[in-house]
Amino acid sequence: DTMNEVMGLSTLEERLTQLLGIKKVILVPGDYEKNKSVLIDVGRSAASHFTHILHDHDIVSITGGTTMAEFSKGLKNDKKFENVIIAPARGSVGVNVEIQSNNIVADISKKLHSQYALLNLPDKLGKESMMMLAQEPEIKKTLDLVSKSDIVVFGVGRADEMIVRRNLSPEVSQEILDKGAVGESFGYYFNKEGEIVYRLNTIGIDLESVQQAREVIAVFAGAKKVEAFLAISKINKNLVLVTDEHSGKKLIELI
Ligand code: G3H
Repeated sequence: DTMNEVMGLSTLEERLTQLLGIKKVILVPGDYEKNKSVLIDVGRSAASHFTHILHDHDIVSITGGTTMAEFSKGLKNDKKFENVIIAPARGSVGVNVEIQSNNIVADISKKLHSQYALLNLPDKLGKESMMMLAQEPEIKKTLDLVSKSDIVVFGVGRADEMIVRRNLSPEVSQEILDKGAVGESFGYYFNKEGEIVYRLNTIGIDLESVQQAREVIAVFAGAKKVEAFLAISKINKNLVLVTDEHSGKKLIELI
């Protein structure tokens, strides 16, 4: 820990990049657990990285959540990306409109002057309804786009918190936790070893498409999510992580 304290931010970033075996780590100063406004800096920093790696003609998938909402708010851009398409990685989750990926997608595309696609349906569906709806031309079009994502930007969920947000039944919730799930992204639940232990009948991007994307950016703030992130961190060697300094230090302790 004393090592951690004397390490500068960029040394920490390099250390973490090596330990995680991913493409890049971007840390913003501070500790989200002590100061919630650190989320604003994390969002802004992720947004700035995103605008640097964005190419014209890219298809970009974005998940929902409070972190991604902050990413969208932090986006500053003067250029016109008329050939870029922004699409929601998922349908809608829970009841809070502000943090739906659809909403965030519309907001981001306005700032980038880009095109966008929507998924106007709930994320959680019965298996049959999901298979039927996925064939609807409007929905199929968005799902096809999403499966060809060049860039994926996503928030990291703790399994226990996402179970609540998704309002899963007590039986399913118990099953997921019994299987050792600690993290959730894209409707997939991961255990500590990074294995998928449960997959929801959700509509949206599948893991193979995340793995094939040119750029994959994970964004989270807060040491409470460190374990969840580690579980998800093995999805793609191309991964770029944006988080707060304190979470970075916690990650080094845990790896
Ligand atoms: O889909 C939601 C993310 O996994 C986490 O959401 O940024 O609100 O914590 P959050």
